[in-house]
Amino acid sequence: MKGVVLAGGLGTRLRPLTSITNKHLLPVYDQPMIFYPLQKLAEAGIRDVMLITGGNSAGDFLRLLGDGSDFGFRTLNYAYQVKEGGIAEAIGLTRTFIGGDRFVVILGDNILEDSLKPRVDAFREQREGARILLKVVDNPSDYGVAELDGTRVVSIEEKPARPKSRYAVIGVYMYDSFAFEVIDRLEPSARGELEVTDINNAYLENGTLHADIVKGWWADSGSSIDGLLQAGIKARQLRVEEGS
Ligand code: DAU
Repeated sequence: MKGVVLAGGLGTRLRPLTSITNKHLLPVYDQPMIFYPLQKLAEAGIRDVMLITGGNSAGDFLRLLGDGSDFGFRTLNYAYQVKEGGIAEAIGLTRTFIGGDRFVVILGDNILEDSLKPRVDAFREQREGARILLKVVDNPSDYGVAELDGTRVVSIEEKPARPKSRYAVIGVYMYDSFAFEVIDRLEPSARGELEVTDINNAYLENGTLHADIVKGWWADSGSSIDGLLQAGIKARQLRVEEGS
């Protein structure tokens, strides 16, 4: 099982904080944002990781993270995304690194309390397909939204104006190499991006998409300045609880 962390994009929602740096290098309490998703992969037992970034700050990730040994990784690999062509485009850049393996993708701005280990272990037991993670939120229109029938996902829509449920699809995706076949035939969405929701819907159509609901707190810390602040406050609270 390999790991992928996405740290590209323009971070426009966090300007001016991101005017001269990449949003994933901004502080969330006492660590750069990017540390949190990397720690989640490490905790799940993933040892070979690729980080995708772009823009002018790419070199800063190498200086900050080096060979990844501080996180316990065997290898930390890097790829450069030339334009912000979407999450699915960024995942497509990992094809050679992944080979025929399975992999876990985590968005570099997603911070979660729950351990990924049991979820990744469940994916290891799965014969094929994909696994996504869901969380009930108050503002589903800001996310990919899953409609459920019991525990089965029946539809996923990207940032719907009228969401069919309150289940946000959080930024952790587990795939087999079928994902690359899907990416090859994707067309850009109305916002000009190759959408991760389209990958998930392709798995849904062939009946191999599984979903878990995560426990505890989750934040898309890169969605707004207030979201970044809240993520910092929560990270501090969790650190204090761990220490007591
Ligand atoms: O946070 C979960 C949500 O993330 C999901 O519910 C949505 O379905 C999914 O589309 C995504 O929505 P966002 O609008 O929050 O995505 P954003 O553009 O902020 O990008 C998420 C991460 O992916 C961010 O850490 C930067 C990285 N990224 C994004 C783009 C567009 C890249 O590495 N390359 C890219 O081209």
